[in-house]
Amino acid sequence: MLLDGKAVVVTGAGRGLGEAFAVHAAQAGAAVVVNDVEADLAQRTAANIRAHGGRAVASGHSVAEPEQARAIVDLCVAEFGSIDGLVNNAGVNYEALPWQDDPAQVRELIEVNVLGVIYTGMAAAEAMADSGRGGSIVNVSSGASLGQRKLGAYAASKGAVASLTYSWALDMEDVGIRVNAVCPLAHTRMVWKSERSLRNCPPDRTPSRIAPLVLFLLGDGAHGITGQLIRCNGPQLHIVGQPYLKAPILERQVWDSESVQRAFDEVFSAHLEPYGLEKRVPPRLRKWTDAPSTPLRSA
Ligand SMILES: NC(=O)c1ccc[n+]([C@@H]2O[C@H](COP(=O)([O-])OP(=O)(O)OC[C@H]3O[C@@H](n4cnc5c(N)ncnc54)[C@H](O)[C@@H]3O)[C@@H](O)[C@H]2O)c1
Repeated sequence: MLLDGKAVVVTGAGRGLGEAFAVHAAQAGAAVVVNDVEADLAQRTAANIRAHGGRAVASGHSVAEPEQARAIVDLCVAEFGSIDGLVNNAGVNYEALPWQDDPAQVRELIEVNVLGVIYTGMAAAEAMADSGRGGSIVNVSSGASLGQRKLGAYAASKGAVASLTYSWALDMEDVGIRVNAVCPLAHTRMVWKSERSLRNCPPDRTPSRIAPLVLFLLGDGAHGITGQLIRCNGPQLHIVGQPYLKAPILERQVWDSESVQRAFDEVFSAHLEPYGLEKRVPPRLRKWTDAPSTPLRSA
């Protein structure tokens, strides 16, 4: 089996995607720490796995507290002798316009979605490096990291997860730890809360459809694959391109405001990027891209 002999932590695994990742990992032979801050849900998932002959223990820790994040990893090593995989799945979201957002809610979201991923990942990386066996970290980012309306704080948190993934992949290659991220789309509580998400995500897009990708990244078949962001929305599976330093790169000793203005007027205007997941064309370019109000007739 794909994950035979491996011990894996899945955070936020009391429901939704995390529950599917934990159940599928156990079915693939892994011993699983099922974590969720809603401890009763973590217990339910773990009991379900055990009832079907799998190995699982529950953890009700919060990933957002560094000592608790470490305790999740310690539990895995204490129960199963090692940690070979971490699925950094726990996350929260909400929609708000920037001028109506609530600082307390922003902070809570960043604490779970960014700090939680960093704290749990740090603890797992330390244990994996110390064991000398290496391992695999699968972070959960989102297509929203490309920019989406009313999701500024959430998009920023998932963009942070993407940057973390590339950086950690660089740091951890030498100690045998692969670090990748997935951008899922699945019908879960997170989607039920938003009309727009519901339109894009019918009920047949179940969390189980994303689990095979996560299992693959956890398993030895993904040897040599690190630093990647991979999106699966049910039917579609693809790599997400990474930001890069775009040519032309202009150079002069000092850039003053006048030369910056000229750079935009004379060069960059033609290189501006459509932005956000919806690929919105910047206003300066729209006169070239918008359909003319009176269609041109052929002679
Ligand atoms: N559902 C989607 O289409 C979608 C799309 C892109 C990304 N994601 C990401 O996938 C992950 C799972 O989302 P989901 O859709 O299953 O959501 P969900 O709300 O159904 O499940 C998230 C789980 O995380 C748990 N959690 C929250 N804070 C926690 C904490 N501090 N410590 C431990 N557990 C905590 C919650 O209790 C919940 O059970 C999230 O990171 C989400 O951002 C989901």
